[in-house]
Amino acid sequence: MERRLLEIRDLKVDLMTQRGIVYALQGVNMDICEGEIHGLVGESGCGKSMTSKAILHLLDRRRSRVSGSVLLEGRELIGLSEREMRKVRGNLISIVFQDPMISLNPLMTVGDQIAESYTNHQGDSRKAALAKAFDMLELVGIHPADRRMKQYPFELSGGLQQRVMIAMAAACRPKLLIADEPTTSLDVTIQAQILELFKELRRELKMSILMITHNFGIVAEICDRVSVMYAGRVIETASSRGIFDRTAHPYSRALIASIPKARHYCEYLPVIPGSPPRQFEREIGCSFRPRCPYRDASCDRAQALSKVGEGHMSACTRAFDRG
Ligand SMILES: Nc1ncnc2c1ncn2[C@@H]1O[C@H](COP(=O)(O)OP(=O)(O)O)[C@@H](O)[C@H]1O
Ligand code: SF4
Ligand SMILES: [Mg+2]
Repeated sequence: MERRLLEIRDLKVDLMTQRGIVYALQGVNMDICEGEIHGLVGESGCGKSMTSKAILHLLDRRRSRVSGSVLLEGRELIGLSEREMRKVRGNLISIVFQDPMISLNPLMTVGDQIAESYTNHQGDSRKAALAKAFDMLELVGIHPADRRMKQYPFELSGGLQQRVMIAMAAACRPKLLIADEPTTSLDVTIQAQILELFKELRRELKMSILMITHNFGIVAEICDRVSVMYAGRVIETASSRGIFDRTAHPYSRALIASIPKARHYCEYLPVIPGSPPRQFEREIGCSFRPRCPYRDASCDRAQALSKVGEGHMSACTRAFDRG
C-alpha cells in the first residue's frame, strides 16, 4: 500500500442537541493514502460530513465533543488549537462543499476570492496573488480567465461556480482536498466534467482527495478506494473494484445489490428495508443488526474492522460463512 497521508482512528463525535446527546460518530477508522481518490459513501445521516468537519475542526466546540485520533503525516490534529488549525485549513487540507452559492462571497469578484486564498495562507502580495489566481482559473478550466477574474459569482453558471470553489480549495496545493458531495446540485453532464476536473487536479497537483458521496456511480468512476459508512462508523474499506466484485459487509451488499447492474450508476442510494438508528445511544454491537438477515447473538458484541482480503477490511466477516 502507498504511504498513508491521513490516519483516522476511533474518531468519535457527540453532539449536544435539545433532544439529548446524538452519538454522531461512534469510532471511525479510515486511512487515506498519498495521491489517491478515496470515496466515502453511505446513506444520508451516516456521518460523512461530520467526519470531514471533525477532521477540520469545523464543529461548534460548545455543542460537540470530539475524541480519537486524526494523524496527518504522523501529526495529531485532534486537540490542536484554533491558531494551529488555521495553518492546516486551506494550506494542508481544504474542503469543497455541495452548494457553491452558500460558500462564495457574492460581493467579491472571482479573481479577488481566489487571490484571497494566497494572501491569507501564503502571505502573497495582492499582485502576486492575482497572478496565481489567474493561473488557477486556467487550471480549473474557467475561460477566458482574464474576463472571468472580474466577474461576480452570480454571473456564473452553477458548474462554473463549483469550479471557482474548487480553485479556491486547491489554490494552496493542499495535501488533501475533501469534496463533500461536490456534484450533487449539478446536472449530469456538468457532474461528469467536474469529476474529470478532480482527476486532473489529483494528477497535476499530486494531492489526495476524499470524495464524499452517496452515489456509487461516482465511486466506480473516479475513486481508487472506498470506505462505506453506517451509523457513524466505517464498516467496510476496499478498492473501488473490490467493493463491487467482492462485497463483504451485508450493508454494502444490500446497497450494491439494489443498484441497476449495468453501470453501477444510480443517482440516489437505493432504499433497503428498515431505517438507520437515530443514534441517541452509543452502540456497542453491530448497528446494522435490526436490518440484517444474517444477524445472530454474536452481533451484539463489538465488530472491529478486520482484514477479509488484500487491502480489504470489513466489520462483518460472518456473511462470508453464510455465502
Ligand atoms: N446540527 C445537528 N444537530 C443534531 N444532529 C445533527 C446535526 N448535524 C448532524 N447531526 C446528526 O449527525 C449525524 C451525521 O450527520 P452528517 O454527517 O451530516 O451525515 P451525512 O453527511 O452522512 O448525510 C446524523 O445522525 C445527523 O442527524
Ligand atoms: S451478520 Fe451481524 S455483524 Fe454482520 S452485519 Fe449482520 S448484524 Fe452486523
Ligand atoms: Mg453530508
